[in-house]
Amino acid sequence: MAKPNLLDEFQSIFNVTKIPRIFFAPGRINLIGEHTDYNGGHVFPASISYGTYALANKRDDQKLRFYSLNFPSIGTIECDLADLDYNEAHDWANFPKGMIQCMKESGLKITTGMDILFYGDIPNGAGLSSSASIEMVTGVLLEGLFELKIDRVQMIQLGQKVENDYIGVNSGIMDQFAIGKGKKGHAILLNCQTLAYNYAPIELNDHVIIIINTNKQRTLAGSKYNERRAECEQALANIQTVIQIKSLGDLTEEQFEQHKHLITNETNQKRAKHAVYENLRTVEALQQLQQGNLETFGRLMNESHTSLQLDYEVTGIELDTIVQAAWDQPGIVGARMTGAGFGGCAIAIVEIDKVDSFKNNVNKIYSEEIGYEASFYTATIGDGARELTEGVY
Ligand code: GLA
Repeated sequence: MAKPNLLDEFQSIFNVTKIPRIFFAPGRINLIGEHTDYNGGHVFPASISYGTYALANKRDDQKLRFYSLNFPSIGTIECDLADLDYNEAHDWANFPKGMIQCMKESGLKITTGMDILFYGDIPNGAGLSSSASIEMVTGVLLEGLFELKIDRVQMIQLGQKVENDYIGVNSGIMDQFAIGKGKKGHAILLNCQTLAYNYAPIELNDHVIIIINTNKQRTLAGSKYNERRAECEQALANIQTVIQIKSLGDLTEEQFEQHKHLITNETNQKRAKHAVYENLRTVEALQQLQQGNLETFGRLMNESHTSLQLDYEVTGIELDTIVQAAWDQPGIVGARMTGAGFGGCAIAIVEIDKVDSFKNNVNKIYSEEIGYEASFYTATIGDGARELTEGVY
């Protein structure tokens, strides 16, 4: 959908003339380091130029009105600032409600109601973190409207708390971190155990990052995700009977190989293997990129996908078909699924000159095999969550 005139929409939907402030939070891709965040490992995500816009004004009373241009059939959702508990009937609005609740509970003074209009251009359910984007845009709008003093990492952690405690998905910190701390032209290497991070410029010379949406929605993602997390926790507990580690991310390759027999459940052992090796691959990937070894970076991306396919088992026929098709094209450096998996998006690093033929060929193979088309976007790495002040409508 073409970007609507957000100011007009705001004023007509809420029937007001006051000019709202406008905030934006991006979505994210993850270059490598998948399902490592909740295992105390490293991730390497970047915020993208697609994201969620929120136009907001304070009200004189305690009423909250939410409207999303992406879900017009749901209409305006209303509640009171004193009653922010999860409510199934409130559908998507539970994400901003959860953020308001968590920020209030952390002691921040949110004192009046608000009118908030949302519009997102991240494909929904595509694994590009549309939900974390809504949480973080709500965070920055509360920070702006109520002049809150909140550290950005604390806001990120509150966003994760919304997912975990309010929505009920046991996700890690990667999405909120990538979105809250994103930087134009850079990816973030984040140690998810210590939250130490550094930015790495993404200079791909004659290459671009293509986001490929399988258009298969991640329907079962929540339950399968929590299952993977539990499997890794069991594997960790097995290893902890013999060595003192905090998380699977603490293990070197040698330590894992030496102790893996302690994980007696075969499935759990495969899950742990992915977590350990993927973490090591991620750290190596950054080094390779810094040394300008794009080819090795691409090979690590491919290995990441194979491990997610065979050991972590979170890919599925759609992602595997599309990634295999990408690997088979001229001009490809590397390709892998990105995000939680079970459908959603893959990313590929492709030579600029070959992009058109890449898209055509991959789409042809994919649609013949799967029965419907894929969508392609060129990823631009933009800044993190913020208030917009110029050229915003
Ligand atoms: C989802 C979660 C993240 C992370 C990825 C997998 O995006 O929200 O915390 O675990 O899956 O890497």
